[in-house]
Order: sequence, then C-alpha cells, then structure tokens
Amino acid sequence: MTSGVELPHLASGKVRDIYELDDKHLLFVTSDRMSAFDVVMAEPIPDKGRVLTAITAFWLDQLSEVAPNHLVSLDVPAGAGDTADLEGRVMVVRKAEMLPVECIVRGYLSGSAWAEYKKTQTMHGQELPAGLSQSEKLPEPVFTPSTKATSGHDENISFDAAAELVGTEMAEELRRISLAAYQRGAELAATRGIIIADTKFELGVIDGQIAICDEVLTPDSSRFWPADEWKPGSTPPSFDKQPLRDWLEGTGWDKTPPPPSLPAEVVAATRERYVQAYERLTGLRFADWPGVRA
Ligand SMILES: Nc1ncnc2c1ncn2[C@@H]1O[C@H](COP(=O)(O)OP(=O)(O)O)[C@@H](O)[C@H]1O
Ligand SMILES: [Mg+2]
Repeated sequence: MTSGVELPHLASGKVRDIYELDDKHLLFVTSDRMSAFDVVMAEPIPDKGRVLTAITAFWLDQLSEVAPNHLVSLDVPAGAGDTADLEGRVMVVRKAEMLPVECIVRGYLSGSAWAEYKKTQTMHGQELPAGLSQSEKLPEPVFTPSTKATSGHDENISFDAAAELVGTEMAEELRRISLAAYQRGAELAATRGIIIADTKFELGVIDGQIAICDEVLTPDSSRFWPADEWKPGSTPPSFDKQPLRDWLEGTGWDKTPPPPSLPAEVVAATRERYVQAYERLTGLRFADWPGVRA
C-alpha cells in the first residue's frame, strides 16, 4: 500500500502513506483511499487525497495564531516520484513526537457521544444536562479525548484519564489548543453555512513545542453538517461520509472486511461531497488546486 514514492517508506495508515525525507522531515502522501466504519473500501474516491490536503492546508494557515503546526511545504520534493500523480496530495512535514491521545472537540451531541449520553447521560464520563436530543448543540464545546488505538477502535476517555496518559499540564495545553482551534474553525465554517459538529486533532511535539499535526478539520476527521438542514432530534445529512455510510448500511454489510464494492454513482457522489466541502468552506475553486485535471 504505497504511492510509488522513491523514498524510504515508514508507515501507511488507513489513508496516508508516510515516507522519510530526512531525519527531521516526513513526506505525507494522502491517497484516495476511503474508509468507512474503520474499513478501507476497495475503490478509491478520485481526488479525495487532494481535497483533504487542500482543506488541511487552508486550516493550518487559518490556525497559525492558535499553535505552530507541522507543515513545511506543499511542493513535491525533487526525486520523490511521479509528480503528476503526487502533485496536490503531498505535504512535507516536520517529524513530530505524536501524543498518545486523540484531541476530539465536540460542539454537538453526535456519534459515539450521543450513544453514551443515551445510556448514562454522560459524555466521555462527564455528566451533561438532562433532556438533550441527538445532534443538539452542547452548552459549550467540550474537549473529549480518546486513546489512539494502534489497532481496532479508539476508546473515548475522560479528561482525567488523558491527564494520566500525558500529564496534567500537557493535557491542559492540549485542551486549550484544541478548543481554540475548534472555535476558530467552527466560527469560520458557520459563515459558510457549515456546522462543524465535532472534530479530531492530532497534536505532537516538535522542538519542544506542541504543534498541530496530521490532517486538520477535514470531512474525514470531522462531522460537517449543512447548517440549514440541522435540526436536533435527527442526524443531519452531511458533507462527510454519511451518504456512503447510508449506502453501506442499506446493503446489510456487517462492517467487517471485505466491504461491498461501491457502484460508480456512489463513488461519484462521494467525490462530489468532498469537493463541495472544500469549495464551500474556502470559497476557492477546487479546479485551481495543483494536480486537479478538469
Ligand atoms: N508530523 C507528524 N510526525 C509524525 N507522525 C505524524 C505527524 N502527523 C501525523 N502523524 C501520524 O501519521 C499518521 C497519518 O496517517 P493516517 O493514514 O491518517 O493514519 P490513521 O489510519 O491512523 O488515521 C497517523 O498515525 C498520525 O498520528
Ligand atoms: Mg488519520
């Protein structure tokens, strides 16, 4: 699972292939692989890696006052491989010491947080007001960390449990940065008619400083909802994977590999969602992003 890059291959996650450029830098290649329910689909979504890279680059720029980040360059390094293929989907980043918690921020009650709330009126172990509905806006955004499972599913944990993993001072810093980044992102998205219901940041340490790493406020790492279709009590249709998830649910698939093969219409509709998310958020044309061919 590599991207034909002529550099030492370090790792491949569900979506990214990571190569070593030198002792301080990595080449991050965002593929068109699509995962849903933690399973990677057999069919790629054309240009999805470029959309994720473009959205991340946009946000890292917007968030530059919140915290430093890992991005060094969006150019394909000389000698890395087939430029036409890599253009628009690579990031040269500083190598970071990644922290063992995922920094989730939730502004709305959805997903695993809603499932927990229904059972125990808590969210990541923390009590919430009674009577909240699915997808309801929380009284204020909450930092709700999870473990970073090396295999299988991440586990939602309390702030105190995160403090045990990384130390109290570090956990407080992660919370401060994550909440500030979410707030800024959610405010900007709101002006474009998009609700960022929740999102996951991955923070790491570079030169002794906490830095925003990985992908940032993308449809893969967040729940994006069209603001005009949000209504507490139901799950709004979304810019993210919802159409794909709905289609997969409709097939009766048991969510273990292998996934059902995606019809061309589902692939095309999913690509369209990703492109729309970029264009609506940024006000920019995706056709202008490097490597995109009309
Ligand atoms: N600057 C960085 N230095 C080192 N590792 C990073 C950096 N930024 C992100 N990562 C890690 O790179 C991986 C990104 O690949 P991805 O395909 O998104 O993986 P996953 O399937 O775990 O989401 C993640 O494990 C993430 O923690
Ligand atoms: Mg990831």
